[in-house]
Amino acid sequence: MNKFPTGPIHFPTDFIWGAATSSYQIEGGSDLDGKGESIWDRFCHTPGKVYNGDTGDVSANHYQYWREDIQLMKDIGLQAYRFSISWPRILPNGTGEVNQKGIDFYSRLVDGLLEAGIQPFVTLYHWDLPQALQDRGGWPARETADAFVNYTEVVTQALGDRVKHWMTFNEPWVSAWLGYFTGEHAPGHQDLDEMLSAAHHLLLAHGAAVPVIRNNVPEGEVGIVLNLYPMYAASASEADRGLARLWDGLQNRWYLDPLAGRGYPQDIVRHFGSALDFVRDGDMETIAAPIDLLGLNYYKRGLWRDKDAVENFPQTHTRSDWITEMDWEVTPEELYDLLIRVQYDYKFPKLYITENGAAFPDKITSEGEILDMERIEYLRLHFIQAAKAIQAGVNLAGYFVWSFMDNFEWARGYRMRFGLVHVDFETLERRLKHSAVWYQNVIENHGL
Ligand code: FCB
Repeated sequence: MNKFPTGPIHFPTDFIWGAATSSYQIEGGSDLDGKGESIWDRFCHTPGKVYNGDTGDVSANHYQYWREDIQLMKDIGLQAYRFSISWPRILPNGTGEVNQKGIDFYSRLVDGLLEAGIQPFVTLYHWDLPQALQDRGGWPARETADAFVNYTEVVTQALGDRVKHWMTFNEPWVSAWLGYFTGEHAPGHQDLDEMLSAAHHLLLAHGAAVPVIRNNVPEGEVGIVLNLYPMYAASASEADRGLARLWDGLQNRWYLDPLAGRGYPQDIVRHFGSALDFVRDGDMETIAAPIDLLGLNYYKRGLWRDKDAVENFPQTHTRSDWITEMDWEVTPEELYDLLIRVQYDYKFPKLYITENGAAFPDKITSEGEILDMERIEYLRLHFIQAAKAIQAGVNLAGYFVWSFMDNFEWARGYRMRFGLVHVDFETLERRLKHSAVWYQNVIENHGL
């Protein structure tokens, strides 16, 4: 089969086309209506942590512009919208008193989406932990998993009558690794043991929340979202292959294996050399609670070259010369490999691409049009690979472009624009980019 077929590409008629965002990245309203402080509020206000000193205090102010945003989703023809709930808006202290105004906000948003014919896909945790819980130990503390289960109970009781698609966590690898090991993300710690126990408690919280969601949403679909990277060795040398295997273990298998009931991968346990003494009897069974869906966030492959190894192996893979503003390699064909591998190796009932997209500098014409041709090409090439994977039997049920609108890109601030919708962060004016109009056409035609 051609790598990039030129003929028409069709998707199943019930395939779900959507776009995604997350609470801290778009909402703003950081202290409105009783919202508590999150670890990202704290991190952004700590000098030197975020590019340009940017914060999510106001961001795109989706908290107040949500009606307008739903109208834009309608204009694009989105069938589904993936967003996350801000835990400190619901429970300002992480546990204890519920902030009714926070519930009301999401309840109105859900009603507005349903009225517009857009299915809400809710992520319970996209990184904005209540600071109060971080003060009590954060994810390295087991109590945080209990607090998450309680938060899940509150949210699913309030919205479970209308929201049928639930995702517990977004990218636990990022929360654990960047938050507690490299320190690039909130809360900015650098401690391997904290990272390992944080990862375990994130997975444990996921598994313990699954039955709570099922109980409150009888007809619902439940799952988790992972950032997965198909890993390649730059050459056939043992050194390069070893690195690719190692990183596959650190980023992919450490999460996929326990969710699939296989426990932590033993090669990586040996690599860490940790006793993992935070794992208690029964935890691995809790983590392996059956799920209905796995969300994949796909941005790029991993390509591994052991620079110190002196070897005579020719490089069979070299870095693509198409790089996004994030300095991420554009690697669409590898999405196909990833989907095939997850489908046939892990056999989760249903897969969604819960994020895929790119940051490029937008070209704005004198008429104010936003010509983001690179984004269109990026999405087009990835959609083609998704269609190929479906033809090969992958149970891919939907695709969410990251992102619905320009937003706060974590430690990189507002410089990186991923949106289908352009946001002027001074005036808060929103405008569809060319990619949004192009995407509307894809959705209308069920394909390319
Ligand atoms: C993912 C995050 C998302 C966004 C994209 C670019 O890792 O889930 O919030 O930042 O990267």
